[in-house]
Amino acid sequence: MKDIFGKALRDYQNNNYSKDIVTWTNISDEDELPLPYLFRDYAEMPKLEQKALNLSKGHILDVGCGAGSHALWLQNKGYKVKAIDTSQGAIEVAKQRGVLNIELKPLLEESETFDTILLLMNGTGIFQELSQVTKYLIHLKSLLNPNGQILIDSSDISYMYEGEDGGTWIDLNSPYYGELDYYLSYKGEEEVPMKWLYLDFETLHTACQTVGLQCEKIMDGAHFDYLAKISHL
Ligand SMILES: C[S@@+](CC[C@H](N)C(=O)[O-])C[C@H]1O[C@@H](n2cnc3c(N)ncnc32)[C@H](O)[C@@H]1O
Repeated sequence: MKDIFGKALRDYQNNNYSKDIVTWTNISDEDELPLPYLFRDYAEMPKLEQKALNLSKGHILDVGCGAGSHALWLQNKGYKVKAIDTSQGAIEVAKQRGVLNIELKPLLEESETFDTILLLMNGTGIFQELSQVTKYLIHLKSLLNPNGQILIDSSDISYMYEGEDGGTWIDLNSPYYGELDYYLSYKGEEEVPMKWLYLDFETLHTACQTVGLQCEKIMDGAHFDYLAKISHL
């Protein structure tokens, strides 16, 4: 990983904002990810993220914290928060913004236990592929205190396969339709392609059942997205 994402966050934090991140996938054209969005405050967050923050309690882990917007809000409310990310730039920026307990580490290397684990802004993306969902859920379960909860958002992206006539072109012999190859560039520099998973609620629900977790939908978002709460049976 070249940490292009972290470079963009650093530029924004250091008042060098002139360009946004450009993203595209194997099934969609270029789109801009505005850097200010990654520095959003509570009022600018989607309802679904606001709901996740308001449901958070106890010792909280923010997984893939990015610039730390969620961790900072919770910290300012007086919660004990830990934030982790795999981007060196993100860690530096979140630290500069005031996140106190923060570590450069992938989710699978975390070993403390928590009352709330947050995975926001398509939290299932971190699982990368459908075949890895069980492994990640088992690990997340091991990090969860007895009455703990995992709050995670994602989207059912089947709408992206709809033609103008309303029919879909999902190939049933292909891998799961939410598994995307994700590309990112910033100021002309391209990141190594990543795998990024969008998981529909039913598939997440079934995966949770297979590892002995319960999963309930908390709310639907504005555009095929949803917030789910996962907890011990
Ligand atoms: C879409 S961004 C979301 C950032 C932040 N949660 C937000 O809502 O603004 C996903 C973040 O997850 C981080 N990430 C990706 N894989 C990870 C992993 N295995 N463990 C921890 N963080 C990871 C990325 O570096 C990135 O900062």
